[in-house]
Amino acid sequence: MADIKTQKHDAIVLSSQSEKDLQRNFFELFHNAPIPDDEIMANLGLFLSSKSLSRVLFFYEIYKKILNTHGMIMEFGVRWGQTLSILAALRGIFEPFNRHRKIVGFDTFSGFIGMGDEDGKLCKTVDGSFSVSEGYQQYLENVLALQEALNPISHLKKFELVSGDATLTIPAYLKRQPETLVSLAIFDFDIYKPTKAALEAVKPHLFKGSVLVFDELGDDIFPGETIALREVFNLNDLKIERHPMTARVSYVVL
Ligand SMILES: C[S@@+](CC[C@H](N)C(=O)[O-])C[C@H]1O[C@@H](n2cnc3c(N)ncnc32)[C@H](O)[C@@H]1O
Repeated sequence: MADIKTQKHDAIVLSSQSEKDLQRNFFELFHNAPIPDDEIMANLGLFLSSKSLSRVLFFYEIYKKILNTHGMIMEFGVRWGQTLSILAALRGIFEPFNRHRKIVGFDTFSGFIGMGDEDGKLCKTVDGSFSVSEGYQQYLENVLALQEALNPISHLKKFELVSGDATLTIPAYLKRQPETLVSLAIFDFDIYKPTKAALEAVKPHLFKGSVLVFDELGDDIFPGETIALREVFNLNDLKIERHPMTARVSYVVL
């Protein structure tokens, strides 16, 4: 498994070596783009591969499912924050005045905490894997603040990054914010312990119509996410669906 890990942050990337070489070439083209600064941000679609675009399209489909439901969005496992930023952009498109559609992300911002036996042997990750660069949380705050500033009612902050071990921070958040209704919950901690804690804590804040998204259900590299779901919900009660454009991500509408 060593060759599927990134060097700096011990993250898993399943691309083959030839795919990685092509991605490297793509990165070089991006890095050396002969496009002036005042035009490059409007042309980022140039560099979206089918794989990257499929994740955006998946969340576009998911966002449409929550439009007529009340409540906020929570992501469990944020890392570089791409999903949070896509969701903030989708909120700006679909419902720029919905101040109740807060977006809250939970992460240590220093990698996994709580690896255990349920996580199996294939992933070969340890506590601290999937870390991010020093000071990254502040950088992401700045990105999300700009996403908000580009849309109406930006004087009302509608996002929050909650840092620390999720087994502690999620219950603490929900105790502090008992009015929380969760219309969309995205489970992407990868590992058992924080996933189970998130499912247990958030369950009383879900309702008929809430959408749950899972990044690793049925995944043999990270079995802990499926075990956690089986322990907190009765699988027979859930219809686990997917969109054809993404292989790994699945969702449930309660
Ligand atoms: C696969 S990454 C999330 C990727 C992200 N959802 C995205 O769309 O790019 C998994 C994240 O879970 C976080 N994580 C793992 N265990 C955690 C814990 N006990 N508490 C908080 N965050 C944790 C890691 O720090 C890591 O950033």
